[in-house]
Amino acid sequence: MVVKYGTGAFVLLHIFYSFQTCSASAPLDKISKINLKEATRSLNLAMPSDAEKFYKEADKVDGWFDKRLMFFYLLIDKFQEENGIVGNLGEIGVWQGKSFIPLLQLAKKHECALAVDCFEAYEFNRDNSGGVCNYQGFNNNVKKYCSNHDRLKIEKGDSAKLSPEVYLRKVENGKGFRMFSIDGCHEGDTTLIDMENAYKCLVDGGVIMMDDYFHFCWPGVSEGVNAFMNKNTNCLKPFLIALNKVFFAQPDYAKKYFDKINAAAIPNMRIKKFFNVETLIYDPQA
Ligand SMILES: C[S@@+](CC[C@H](N)C(=O)[O-])C[C@H]1O[C@@H](n2cnc3c(N)ncnc32)[C@H](O)[C@@H]1O
Repeated sequence: MVVKYGTGAFVLLHIFYSFQTCSASAPLDKISKINLKEATRSLNLAMPSDAEKFYKEADKVDGWFDKRLMFFYLLIDKFQEENGIVGNLGEIGVWQGKSFIPLLQLAKKHECALAVDCFEAYEFNRDNSGGVCNYQGFNNNVKKYCSNHDRLKIEKGDSAKLSPEVYLRKVENGKGFRMFSIDGCHEGDTTLIDMENAYKCLVDGGVIMMDDYFHFCWPGVSEGVNAFMNKNTNCLKPFLIALNKVFFAQPDYAKKYFDKINAAAIPNMRIKKFFNVETLIYDPQA
């Protein structure tokens, strides 16, 4: 059975190619050389106090998150701050926290980060995504890398049985979500439910990050996303494909995020039509 995408070899190859192909002065070149601080400074992005430590040590944390995504998260966070978009952060499918930690780190005062996972209740992990999830390991990592871990909220269970109301109730602050990552059960039906639930609790201008849409080992993800897009026409549009994630927002905002990221003049970007809109593609191997 394929467990996520197997080994770290793909990620290592990825980073190897980045080292080979980026120019010396480009921001993403700098973050691939583990200098997130300089990359963010060059674009005047606010960097959460714990982000640099996690960026340096991310390879020690078990999971499937390419740490260079933190750069895009910071760009989105900056856009949201500039446009008065406030709300919580959330993820379905947290495993050991590798992709959740960068989200929690972005939580400002009065914002929360919600972790949704079945954890040890492996019977809900219908496609063996990751394997048996260890709650204690997740919690230890969060405490290690997030000084604001008092902002953490946890919902344990089968995400296919949960609802936007449950997510909104859990964060206890009456706000919706401004960033929501989906990386739980990769079957088509559950992906559709997760995407609908995340969409329904997004604030105006919120972003959904969908993992593995293009990954050949997880065809259920594209099946679920395509079902969502057919059923909910023009509710969400993509604006970025980067490092195994597709980023979606409401159509008018998707265009604004596109413009914001495009203006950052990141090397190795392409533009292709996807779900009928121009979408940025970050290709570190270009
Ligand atoms: C691939 S891992 C997530 C990886 C993590 N996002 C990262 O980047 O390191 C998938 C996670 O989804 C959880 N999961 C699988 N099926 C689920 C379900 N039906 N409901 C809730 N969580 C589920 C698993 O327990 C596991 O922690």
